[in-house]
Amino acid sequence: MAAALPRLETLYERPQGSPLPLPDALRQCYGGQLSFPVGAPHVFANFVSTIDGLVSFGLPGLLGAATISKGNAGDRAVMGILRAAADVVVAGAGTLRAEPRVTWTPRQVFPKAADLFAEMRRARGLPPRTRVAIVTASGDVDISLGVFHSPDVEPLIVTSVAGAERLAGRTRDVPVRAVGEREPTMRQVIDAVVAETGARLILSEAGPTLFGRMLAEHVVDELFLTLSPHVAGRSEERRGMSLVEPTAFHPERAPWADLLGVKRSDDYLLLRYAFRR
Ligand SMILES: NC(=O)c1ccc[n+]([C@@H]2O[C@H](COP(=O)([O-])OP(=O)(O)OC[C@H]3O[C@@H](n4cnc5c(N)ncnc54)[C@H](OP(=O)(O)O)[C@@H]3O)[C@@H](O)[C@H]2O)c1
Repeated sequence: MAAALPRLETLYERPQGSPLPLPDALRQCYGGQLSFPVGAPHVFANFVSTIDGLVSFGLPGLLGAATISKGNAGDRAVMGILRAAADVVVAGAGTLRAEPRVTWTPRQVFPKAADLFAEMRRARGLPPRTRVAIVTASGDVDISLGVFHSPDVEPLIVTSVAGAERLAGRTRDVPVRAVGEREPTMRQVIDAVVAETGARLILSEAGPTLFGRMLAEHVVDELFLTLSPHVAGRSEERRGMSLVEPTAFHPERAPWADLLGVKRSDDYLLLRYAFRR
């Protein structure tokens, strides 16, 4: 199996934290250890963007991240490794509407390494199923979607009090946590996820809306950003979506990040940043 995995080239790495127990084949694929700070809950986001910073083309039927990454094997392997590393994956209702088949499991994004992801989770004492927290303010989520029924997923919905009322009686055995009257803060969302799951490593695969709010509230610690070597462009007719919107920062208060790592997979760059507090 190891021979079939892509191999990332590590171009730069700033030492930090303590390494997770990666199976040898995944360590070779990743181009070294994957380390995280120890201690308090740690929120890390993952995106793939075009050279001009778009994370969605905004075209019906082509909204998803795979249209941006073009399915690059290195990017997909890293997504799998990050999902397998996470105690919980946080996802947004907007992304679920755009990509209704996604379940946020490591196996789904990179099936070739499913056994290695399972081994990695066992070594960390994590349950085999991926814990996925879907964040919605309105409660307008389709409970028939795969993420709520996959045998590989332990789902959770984090919503507002109004959203929980809307969902009442429809969620069967999916737990619902209500925080905030209509629009929970991201701090409330993360605290609810931690309280519910005991998570320490929290991967956000939410879209630009929730990511922007997390940045504005300083609840996101890191960004893993794959730069895909093509340009999407924008026009009046087709805006697409950039990494952060509709949040906009003043230049003097715009989040600033330290570069933690640079890896290469073919013509793709895989960047890792830590946001300054
Ligand atoms: N290229 C990539 O790496 C990547 C990664 C992720 C997503 N995407 C793309 O991004 C697009 C989706 O972006 P998005 O920004 O709409 O998705 P999102 O951030 O995942 O979800 C936005 C949704 O979050 C909920 N929300 C907003 N504020 C909230 C609050 N205060 N509390 C609780 N929930 C709140 C709302 O859901 P309700 O309306 O239900 O209240 C809102 O519609 C898709 O095209 C997806 O494919 C790309």
